[in-house]
Amino acid sequence: MTKALSPSDRAKAAAAKRSVAFVEDGMKLGLGTGSTAALMVRALADLARSEGLTLTCVATSSRTADQARQEGLKVVTLDEAGRLDLTIDGADEFDADFSLIKGGGGAHLQEKIVAAASERMIVITDASKEVKTLGAFPLPVEVIGFGWTTTQTQIEELLAGMDVMGTGISRRMAGETPFRTDEGNFILDLALGRIGNARALSQALNQIPGVVENGLFLGLCDTIVIGHSDGRVETRDLNAGTVHEENVLFEESSNIFREL
Ligand code: 5RP
Repeated sequence: MTKALSPSDRAKAAAAKRSVAFVEDGMKLGLGTGSTAALMVRALADLARSEGLTLTCVATSSRTADQARQEGLKVVTLDEAGRLDLTIDGADEFDADFSLIKGGGGAHLQEKIVAAASERMIVITDASKEVKTLGAFPLPVEVIGFGWTTTQTQIEELLAGMDVMGTGISRRMAGETPFRTDEGNFILDLALGRIGNARALSQALNQIPGVVENGLFLGLCDTIVIGHSDGRVETRDLNAGTVHEENVLFEESSNIFREL
């Protein structure tokens, strides 16, 4: 069954479909988490079926693992796979340096581990997520449940001395109960508004006992594929310094949208 597509759905699908053209037979792949990554997993499974590709996939969340297996992809653990050829994932924000905020879906810990284990990371996104300076999207920080209010206080004290615009912190909820990550931890969302020095902030946050990982992805992404609702796709390559534009065609009834 297909539903009416929003411009954002179409843009995400265009980026997702373009990104799987980077996949080659025999690759070990990291699969991201989120609505854009879910479209990519669908497009990847379609490609693998039609081209007869043998792929080994590592998922960045239980949600993605379930979807990938349902689509017929082979999913193994990162420890079984070892070094990966390519990871394709979404993002909540990206800037001109290909620095990212991730974790809107609460999966940034596994996403960062998988991206760091990959030769190449491709981010798939729509144009609305491009920013001049990171920070408008609240920065997710995964923290251990034990003593989490103490950890929050230490983060507040840290933020008072950092180059950020806001300092509000809220624990993420899933309805009436606190959101729990796949590891059973909490997420604190930091409403920073603007992050002046992302590297300094990332390093300082991760030094606080109780912080497991923050959602700043710095120096991990090589390529950004930006989809538009009319099917145009822009591919920016950081290392080559190139920007390519092309058109991705798909029907609204395409398999990529089935039950998503
Ligand atoms: C999950 C993420 C996602 O990649 C990010 O939230 C983007 O999600 P979407 O594609 O649904 O907009 O980091 O932890």
